[in-house]
Amino acid sequence: MEIFLDTGNIEEIQKAAEIGILDGVTTNPTLVAKEGISFEALIKKIARIVTKHNPRAIVNAEVISTDAKGMLKEASKLSKLHKNVVIKIPLIPEGIKAVAHLSKRKIRTNVTLCFSANQALLAAKAGATYISPFVGRLDDVGSRGLELVEEIRAIYDNYNYKTKLLVASIRSPDHVLKSALIGADVCTMPYKIFEKMFNHPLTDKGLEKFLDDWKAYQKKKR
Ligand code: E4P
Repeated sequence: MEIFLDTGNIEEIQKAAEIGILDGVTTNPTLVAKEGISFEALIKKIARIVTKHNPRAIVNAEVISTDAKGMLKEASKLSKLHKNVVIKIPLIPEGIKAVAHLSKRKIRTNVTLCFSANQALLAAKAGATYISPFVGRLDDVGSRGLELVEEIRAIYDNYNYKTKLLVASIRSPDHVLKSALIGADVCTMPYKIFEKMFNHPLTDKGLEKFLDDWKAYQKKKR
């Protein structure tokens, strides 16, 4: 499963990319607005950092137009920023129209704000490269976000759709684990969740013991 970071924060992206297992970054207008630099400059900077460690790593840049014509215009500008830019488009009829156009031109897309399996079906039919179901936001309103991931997996497998299932709005390492068990293609997560995936108290305890025992062994050898 691919791991993306869901942030526009350069420091976080840098730290994660250096580990060498980062497959991409997703941004959205809210995340970009938190950073103090221009959108285009930010996307270029992110692309430079992630591709330094993984030449295939992608960066998602979201359009803000709500009509297909405007989205296509933005997509054409954004895709020129870096060859690994994927255009993020909201799941509305005009968005699906834009995705259908872009997929014919071989421009990669990520259809965002997906909250139902029927929406995911429409995105796949349009040839979206990625579909982003928002699990955390569904959980927040009392629905089961991961059930949506299961439904999309089943539909895409039934018809052999190539659209990648990218689980978004992740709130916990358990969301990542369950998504991996379901067979999601990608999880995009905040940096703090990525960090938490590494943690286990027995790892820390075990390492401490190994190092202590090694020190004692070195002392004895002298
Ligand atoms: C996906 O690409 C979105 O940027 C993101 O996952 C939204 O998550 P949130 O619900 O934590 O804002």
